[in-house]
Amino acid sequence: MPDRKKVTLPYLFNKVANHQPITWLTCYDYPTAYLQEQAGLDMILVGDSLAMTMLGFETTLPATMEDMIRHASAVRRGAPNVFIVGDMPYMSYQPSVETAIRNAGRFMAEAACDAIKLEGGEEMADRIRGIVNSGIPAIGHLGLTPQSASALGGHRVQGKAAKSAKKIIDSAKALEQAGAFAILLEMVPDRVCKIITSRAENCIIMSLGSGPDAHGQLLIYHDMFGLYPRFKPRMAKVFGNAGEVILNGLKQYVQEVTDQAFPQPENWFTMTDEEFNELQGML
Ligand code: KIV
Repeated sequence: MPDRKKVTLPYLFNKVANHQPITWLTCYDYPTAYLQEQAGLDMILVGDSLAMTMLGFETTLPATMEDMIRHASAVRRGAPNVFIVGDMPYMSYQPSVETAIRNAGRFMAEAACDAIKLEGGEEMADRIRGIVNSGIPAIGHLGLTPQSASALGGHRVQGKAAKSAKKIIDSAKALEQAGAFAILLEMVPDRVCKIITSRAENCIIMSLGSGPDAHGQLLIYHDMFGLYPRFKPRMAKVFGNAGEVILNGLKQYVQEVTDQAFPQPENWFTMTDEEFNELQGML
């Protein structure tokens, strides 16, 4: 996609106005970002899920601002035209509005992100407001919010009961009123997602496992391609088994080196007889 234009906020809102679903995936590295740019993705989330998918931790909590900036800037180099969202890691925004603004600013200044995302409902509305008032586009994240998985009782669907669904709907409105230009609904029932989407006035609603009625969809890249060994969430569709392809290639490499079938002459470099003879004379 050589002539692709940079994806901007007006472009995203235009898609919503024209009822064209927005495409969004996680990404954490340069080569994958390059492929996602070529595929024509609208948005990339450099998620704190990198603590699990890239660094092998059991939760997202160990991701640091340094990890996030390092990976987000690599993604930007691979995908210059995609709308890139930096995911604010655990405790980079919870302590105070000022902490939130400073760390959101780092994503913009040090990694050239287009926006940030943070988890939490009404109680995080002041963080969203502060960040947006500082000129940084912000996305809210409701439903299953992995940084609070312990308090939520694990990685489970949120808002199945009327009371908890109402709380999510109220939080979505509070985040929109605080200035969030988009909200991600993770593992929320489809009917709740539909209500929130229909009530959104100037806010893009994105779904991760929350059904088809949002303005767009997000998936975790590693779940789509069999690249995360521990588990595959039910909501993730596998679009190809890259993990299997890579594993087969690795097994073949081990076998060929063991059998001395690799390398072959086209896989190494040589020197002329003349230079070699001169070299031998020097030894
Ligand atoms: O970190 C991440 O990838 C996320 C998704 C789970 C939405 O926040």
